[in-house]
Amino acid sequence: MRYDFKNLYICEYNILLVIKQISEMKEFKRHLVTAALPYANGPVHIGHLAGVYIPADIYVRYLRMNGEDVLFVCGSDEHGVPITIKAKKEGCTPQDIVNRYHEIIKQSFADFGIEFSNYSRTSLPLHHKVSSDFFKTLYQKGEFVEQESEQYFDAKANQFLADRYITGTCPKCGSDGAYGDQCEKCGSSLSPLELINPVSSITGEKPVLKKTKHWYLPLDKHEQFLKEWILDGHTEWKSNVYGQCKSWIDGGLQPRAVSRDLDWGVPVPVDGAEGKVLYVWFDAPIGYITSTQECTDNWEQYWKSKDCKLVHFIGKDNIVFHCIVFPAMLKAHGDYILPENVPANEFLNLENDKISTSRNWAVWLHEYLVDFKDQQDTLRYVLTANAPETKDNDFTWKDFQARNNNELVAILGNFVNRVVVLTHKYCNGVVPSKQNDLPIDIAVLEEISVAQQLASQHIESYKFREALKDVMQLARAGNKYLTETEPWKLIKTDEQRVADILHNCLQITANLGIIIEPFLPNTAQAIQAMFGMSKCTWQQAGNKQILASGITVGEPALLFRKIEDAEIDLQVEKLHKTKQIMNIQQIQATPQKPLIQYDDFAAMDIRVGTVKAAERVPKTDKLMKLTIDTGIDVRTVVSGIAHCFSPEEVVGKQVSILVNLQPRMLKNIESQGMILMAQNADGKLEFVSPISTVENGSTIC
Ligand code: 2FM
Ligand code: ZN
Repeated sequence: MRYDFKNLYICEYNILLVIKQISEMKEFKRHLVTAALPYANGPVHIGHLAGVYIPADIYVRYLRMNGEDVLFVCGSDEHGVPITIKAKKEGCTPQDIVNRYHEIIKQSFADFGIEFSNYSRTSLPLHHKVSSDFFKTLYQKGEFVEQESEQYFDAKANQFLADRYITGTCPKCGSDGAYGDQCEKCGSSLSPLELINPVSSITGEKPVLKKTKHWYLPLDKHEQFLKEWILDGHTEWKSNVYGQCKSWIDGGLQPRAVSRDLDWGVPVPVDGAEGKVLYVWFDAPIGYITSTQECTDNWEQYWKSKDCKLVHFIGKDNIVFHCIVFPAMLKAHGDYILPENVPANEFLNLENDKISTSRNWAVWLHEYLVDFKDQQDTLRYVLTANAPETKDNDFTWKDFQARNNNELVAILGNFVNRVVVLTHKYCNGVVPSKQNDLPIDIAVLEEISVAQQLASQHIESYKFREALKDVMQLARAGNKYLTETEPWKLIKTDEQRVADILHNCLQITANLGIIIEPFLPNTAQAIQAMFGMSKCTWQQAGNKQILASGITVGEPALLFRKIEDAEIDLQVEKLHKTKQIMNIQQIQATPQKPLIQYDDFAAMDIRVGTVKAAERVPKTDKLMKLTIDTGIDVRTVVSGIAHCFSPEEVVGKQVSILVNLQPRMLKNIESQGMILMAQNADGKLEFVSPISTVENGSTIC
């Protein structure tokens, strides 16, 4: 026999990791698990669930089932520039925006069984106090560097401009509409000073450079500590996380500004900081501390005790903040523990395209529940089985359907249903007593403890996909056992053998009802209820004799339903339809001009008139001389429409005409007004006309 030493080595290495993680778990008295605070500027989608909240919830449910002392905290991240931009767009306050989305997000989490110990929000006075105090401590300890720099200022709006409030031409690819921090066309990270022809999005004015003071966290000072703590001390972290940390640290850490010139956020709590707030990435992670304080007076037992294991669940775009910046803040403060692990996931794509809130390319959780009522567990299953744990993954509706129909319905649901139906048919709905074990029985019963133990190891090492596979493997083994033993054939000849088989199947089913709980809590509850079980512990599972003979088994009920092609087609259609609408808006709509006052609009006198005569202006491509009956008079207007219409097409049309525009000379003809046209991105023109004929001179208002 030849050994594959490379695989043997990997295998041993994995075992060592698992042993390290299990021993870690045992040596802590308490667990503090955090899930990234979602921005409260939109609802949550499947990418959020798959990347952060489902893995965190599986981990926490597992810890709770193990009787561990665990707090699971989260909340809405309610500060930051995008929220202020959205509020401006909608003509409301940032508080209105976050109030709206905080409720929607909180509800979605509850609907999908994400059971936080507390779901807080960063606009709460308590959070302002906690983050403000945190800043003050660092400030008093001299942990910040104060520095003046020149930043863009909108003189008309009298405010400094956050990077997102400045647009201009990208210096890298030359496209217009690049933001001060990023060009969305070519993906380059930018600084506002690099933009060509910068413009303020607030007023449309050209911003000016102005001096401003900010506080910086000198990450360079913490470089050595971070190197030792992560690069030497946490080699067991997921390779995507460790790799990102290494590249940040190897690249040399720079001081980071922790304040901004903005009027939405936690005010910087020092003199001379009027108009300045804490940078959202400074206060957001402190939100974990606030959320803990909100739910227990013993919060220091979690945050300031070496007995507590802190784990942050996040997406990969948050790695630098949770592994470098926040730990540097906690270390500088001095009293706090640091995370033991930061199991960040990669991104989930949707139908081969990046999930995008602004392009509406997403499956929103609240919308999913409208179409797939009570099918939360199906989504939890698919998002776990296909979680982007080591690389970006793709969610497709076809895969969703296949996993539901071929795995949940055909394997787990089918096994449980067959066992319960057969128990009612052959054993009067009670767990029959068993007499003999054949080798096939011993082998299948062995699978129970294997599944429980492997799932434990995988959950504790943050490999939730593998853990779910372990559980499903038990259902697969159960199905195979039933198919091979064929109790429906034996019932005529050997009732006791049928009782033995069903006894074993019921033990497997009850075990499944427990070990599936971290992943599919509703399904677990339904299975447990069939046996009159509830609030089961993880240790109860793995037991071949979990059900005593004679226990009544509930009526069979389907755990999952088949999802039809038509339902999936509908979802795909819906997705593409919204994308098309968004594309039309994005490609064709030119950016909105700066705001005007009502009086500016009211000053324009726009009337409906009829074109009485039309002729091309000689030696021009576009100009046409129109004679128009405006209802007030008959006048001449020169209009740039000759490249789109012939004079014959135009005569007799009712058009909209701005009649009080200062007359001007075009090719020696006095133009006494302007025709309103609708123009698309390709330059195609259409008249803005009343749908049915109205009197000439009617006003447009
Ligand atoms: O990326 C995000 O959605 C951030 N709102 C995450 C913040 S996590 C933490 F620091 F609060
Ligand atoms: Zn660019």
